[in-house]
Amino acid sequence: MPLASTKPFAPTVPNDLESFWVPFTPNRAFKKAPRLISRAKDMHYYTVDGKAILDGSAGMWCCNAGHNRAPIVEAIQQQAAELDYPPAFQFSHPKAFELASRIAALAPGDLDHVFFCNSGSEAVDTALKIALAYHNIRGEASRARLIGRERGYHGVGFGGISVGGIVANRKMFGTMLAGVDHLPHTYNREQQAFTKGEPEWGAHLADELDRLVALHDASTIAAVIVEPMSGSTGVLPPPKGYLKRLRAICDKHGILLVFDEVITGFGRLGCAFAAERYGVIPDMITFAKGVTSGTVPMAGVLVRKGIYDTFMRGPEHVIELFHGYTYSAHPLACAAGLATLDIYRDEDLFGRAAKLESKWADAAMSLKGTPGVLDIRTLGLVAAVDLASRPDAYGKRAYEAMEKAYHEHGLMFRITGDTIALSPPLIISEDEIGEIFEKVGKVIRQVH
Ligand SMILES: Cc1ncc(COP(=O)(O)O)c(C=O)c1O
Repeated sequence: MPLASTKPFAPTVPNDLESFWVPFTPNRAFKKAPRLISRAKDMHYYTVDGKAILDGSAGMWCCNAGHNRAPIVEAIQQQAAELDYPPAFQFSHPKAFELASRIAALAPGDLDHVFFCNSGSEAVDTALKIALAYHNIRGEASRARLIGRERGYHGVGFGGISVGGIVANRKMFGTMLAGVDHLPHTYNREQQAFTKGEPEWGAHLADELDRLVALHDASTIAAVIVEPMSGSTGVLPPPKGYLKRLRAICDKHGILLVFDEVITGFGRLGCAFAAERYGVIPDMITFAKGVTSGTVPMAGVLVRKGIYDTFMRGPEHVIELFHGYTYSAHPLACAAGLATLDIYRDEDLFGRAAKLESKWADAAMSLKGTPGVLDIRTLGLVAAVDLASRPDAYGKRAYEAMEKAYHEHGLMFRITGDTIALSPPLIISEDEIGEIFEKVGKVIRQVH
């Protein structure tokens, strides 16, 4: 007989804030003054008490098509009524193939195969595993080393934090993956402060990969993974020419290059993928967030034809890659993804982001000279404002700014350390661009 639960289902339990351990959030501060959102439409969130909040961050870099767009909502509703879930292994459903083809058609070069996952973290781990297995199959199993970059964010799986370069995300979690090394990050305030777009200084930092090759030998290195634009660490646009140089060095040594485009994919930089903006074709691209405009969790890895083909050997009844997730290509996510891609195409939202880029950059730079502003960076529809830290309280000024923006000014943005990061839905109007930076300016003055 099963033991009776000491906690029987009790519908009378009041809804309080205690049980939910909120991720990447200071829980005690949050629970004292929670920021609870109950509804959203287009460019706005609405709080539980009905106050409108202008979305300056597309949720968390996800909702590129704006919120609760009717075609996406309807597609999800229809799909839920039609097919809930087929097994993701050994079986599939038509929309998974349709979405993979549509995403492949958006990607540059021969990045024409898609492996679906559910989060950016899973996509990163998947790409790293594909890289290792690829070399293994080709008889180069000694290529087991992975190279990331300082200040990189690649999610929170053990693979992602190992190649990632954000100290707080790593220091509590033991030894992580063995055999990982890091390139230096590309930010230098003295050389780059208040640059619109890609900074002139810094392409030479790609050459550090040659130094790592000299140290470890190319025969031990499987792949390099970088975000074309580091996002979560405070928005670091790539120096002009940096990514091309990295590609060339990878080619010279037979090292795979992975672009983590979880943030930059789906129009954020004015192209479907940053790879297109920079004219560089990586061997794999990880994507997530914008693929469904944040409506249903979905992510994936775009893989070049040659890599996919390498796996397609051996007896046909044998699984070629021992990897996958129960919810890879979930029908709800595929339906949402297809409807999202239709909106991006029909409203030319990637082109819209490109057209708005200079207005956005000008508006952001208008905050130069505001007391306590140390640097402003912009790229595509992304901006970051570095604030001077309070003595002995790193991160507190930006945290206060975020709280005040939300509670007093009806604006949402993201923060990292003492940096404010802005990345609105791509449907933003020019008036709303003005509104965002006017409010950010007010808040910065308030917390100075
Ligand atoms: C570049 C990059 N990679 C990976 C991730 C992890 O994605 P997720 O939170 O969906 O696991 C993120 C999340 O912001 C990201 O910005």
